[in-house]
Amino acid sequence: MKDIFGKALLDYHKGNYSDDIITSTNISDEDELPLPYLFRNYSNMPKLEQKALQLVKGTVLDVGCGSGSHSLYLQEKELQVKAIDISKGAVTVAKERGVKNVALASVLDESETFDTILLLMNGTGIFQEIAQVSKYLTHLKNLLNANGQILIDSSDIAYMYEDDDGGLWIDTNANYYGELDYFLSYKGEQELPMKWLYLDFNTLYTACKAVGLECDLIMEGDHFDYLAKLSLA
Ligand SMILES: C[S@@+](CC[C@H](N)C(=O)[O-])C[C@H]1O[C@@H](n2cnc3c(N)ncnc32)[C@H](O)[C@@H]1O
Repeated sequence: MKDIFGKALLDYHKGNYSDDIITSTNISDEDELPLPYLFRNYSNMPKLEQKALQLVKGTVLDVGCGSGSHSLYLQEKELQVKAIDISKGAVTVAKERGVKNVALASVLDESETFDTILLLMNGTGIFQEIAQVSKYLTHLKNLLNANGQILIDSSDIAYMYEDDDGGLWIDTNANYYGELDYFLSYKGEQELPMKWLYLDFNTLYTACKAVGLECDLIMEGDHFDYLAKLSLA
């Protein structure tokens, strides 16, 4: 990983905002990811994220914290938060913005236990592909205290396969339709291709049940997105 994402966060944080991140996938054209969005405060967060933050209780692990926006909000509410990210730039920015406990680590390397685990802004993306969902869910389950919860958001992206007549062109022989190849560039520099997973709620529900997690639909967003709460069965 070249940490292009982290470079963009560092630029914005240091007041050098000129360009946005450009993303594309194997099924979609280029799109802009505005850097200010990655520094959003509570009032600029989508309703699903606001709802997740309202449901947080106890000790918190913010997985894939990015610039630390969710962690900062929770810290202000006097909650004890640990934030982790695999992006060095993100960790530096989160630290400099005031997140007290930040670590450069993958969630798979985490071993402490928590009352709430947050995975926000398509939290299932971190699982990368359907074949890894049960490994990640099992690990996350092991990081939960009794009565703990995992708050995770994602989207059903079947709509991205819709043609102009409203028909779907999903190839049923191909991999799960939410498994995408994700490309990111910033100021002309291209990140290595990544895998990024969107999970529809039913698929997440089935995967949770298979590893002994309850899965409740908390809220649906405006555009096929949803927030789910996972807890020990
Ligand atoms: C879409 S960004 C979301 C950032 C932040 N949560 C937000 O809402 O603004 C996903 C983040 O997850 C991080 N990430 C990806 N895989 C990870 C892993 N295995 N463990 C921890 N963080 C990871 C990325 O570096 C990136 O910062």
